[in-house]
Amino acid sequence: MRLALGCEDFEELAARVQALVKPEMPTSLMDKMRKLPELAKLASFPPKTVRSGICQEVVHEGDDADLARLPIIKCWPDDGGKYITLGNILTKDPETGDINVGMYRVQLFEPRMCAMHCHIHHDGARNIRMYKKRGERMPVAIAFGGESVMPYAASCPLPPNVSELLLAGFLNGRGIEMVPCKTIDMQVPANSEIIIEGYIDPDEEYITEGPFGDHTGVYSLPGQYPKYHVTAVTHRRQPVYPTTIVGFPPQEDYYLGKATERIFLPLLKMIVPDVIDYHLPMFGAFHNFAFIKIRKEYALQARRVIHAIWGAGQMALTKFIIVVDEHVNVHDEQDVLFHVGLNVDPRRDIVLSDGPLDILDHAAPHEGAGSKMGIDATEKIKGEGPVREWAKEVRMPDEILQLIDRRWSEYGL
Ligand SMILES: Cc1cc2nc3c(=O)[nH]c(=O)nc-3n(C[C@H](O)[C@H](O)[C@H](O)COP(=O)(O)O)c2cc1C
Repeated sequence: MRLALGCEDFEELAARVQALVKPEMPTSLMDKMRKLPELAKLASFPPKTVRSGICQEVVHEGDDADLARLPIIKCWPDDGGKYITLGNILTKDPETGDINVGMYRVQLFEPRMCAMHCHIHHDGARNIRMYKKRGERMPVAIAFGGESVMPYAASCPLPPNVSELLLAGFLNGRGIEMVPCKTIDMQVPANSEIIIEGYIDPDEEYITEGPFGDHTGVYSLPGQYPKYHVTAVTHRRQPVYPTTIVGFPPQEDYYLGKATERIFLPLLKMIVPDVIDYHLPMFGAFHNFAFIKIRKEYALQARRVIHAIWGAGQMALTKFIIVVDEHVNVHDEQDVLFHVGLNVDPRRDIVLSDGPLDILDHAAPHEGAGSKMGIDATEKIKGEGPVREWAKEVRMPDEILQLIDRRWSEYGL
């Protein structure tokens, strides 16, 4: 992931995002001059249209656009069929023309017909609903390869009005070049290896898609999804077909998610300023658990944070949220669970709520909807219900630890 995103560590990218969302205002003329190159760089991040691209060196249209020629894999023995798993899926808001890039698996049914497994909470599905309302077909392109930041940008949980292509340009250091498709009204990243062009007719009957060995560690259940009809396949000469296998975590997608966890910290802090840090544990498969660290300053603050996160983008789908105090290492699962055991009175400190859940959550009573639990594992203070005297944790003060570190050699041990 670090190679793909061109960084030494994700914190470095988080700092760049932080600078973008909270820019320091130049105070003097000199300061303004110094900021000019940074501003000029910002202007180079949006995508730009070019006339031709390597992704169209070879063009197959009509019956010639045969997906059976691609080495599409069946991942797990009980999968419903072969799946495209690492395609960047481009759809368009029919009103604004804004392009959305998502990553949804696509099951192959016929050489030119597939099913697109886009969850109802995702922007791609929102676009399908808009085309349905207008009674129009929706152009859809699937792009493989290209700039190494593209699969990350596609999987990124950005709100509908924030462009993944802009984020890709920002991560890439310059705008993604886009080329018009051959058979549909869509633009695609010009440097892609392979492009599939096609459409979804939202009025057409949906098809049963799945099962599929998913990143949750189980086969996700079959469901009804729109048919995707292929109109063209274009590619560079000698293209490389990228794919991935998800399954019991951790697989490759876990590291895509980890990058998001780190890079999105400044954005989460912007929405919920109480948050100092957070951790999505591997066993939580993205949506099942979030551990949140806050600096607690007033009664029931953890509740506020829990509810705010249940309203924050795709984090809203989190089933269990655990909030801990500032001194807890939120990345150490032992430390977090230690404080759940230590500080929680279940009747007093647990909040249950109902709302949208991940579509893949088979334990939810309804598809994509059910209950969630927030656990306030912070130390309790006055105003948080019945609270007796709070016991102090046995911890050596930092000054003493530093003193011992300094004098370690003198002890002769
Ligand atoms: C390898 C991989 C496979 C994914 N498969 C799907 C999928 O089949 N359906 C889906 O709705 N989301 C899937 N996701 C998650 C979405 O790509 C992710 O939530 C993204 O932010 C959705 O973008 P959107 O809201 O712009 O549509 C997958 C993510 C990864 C990394």
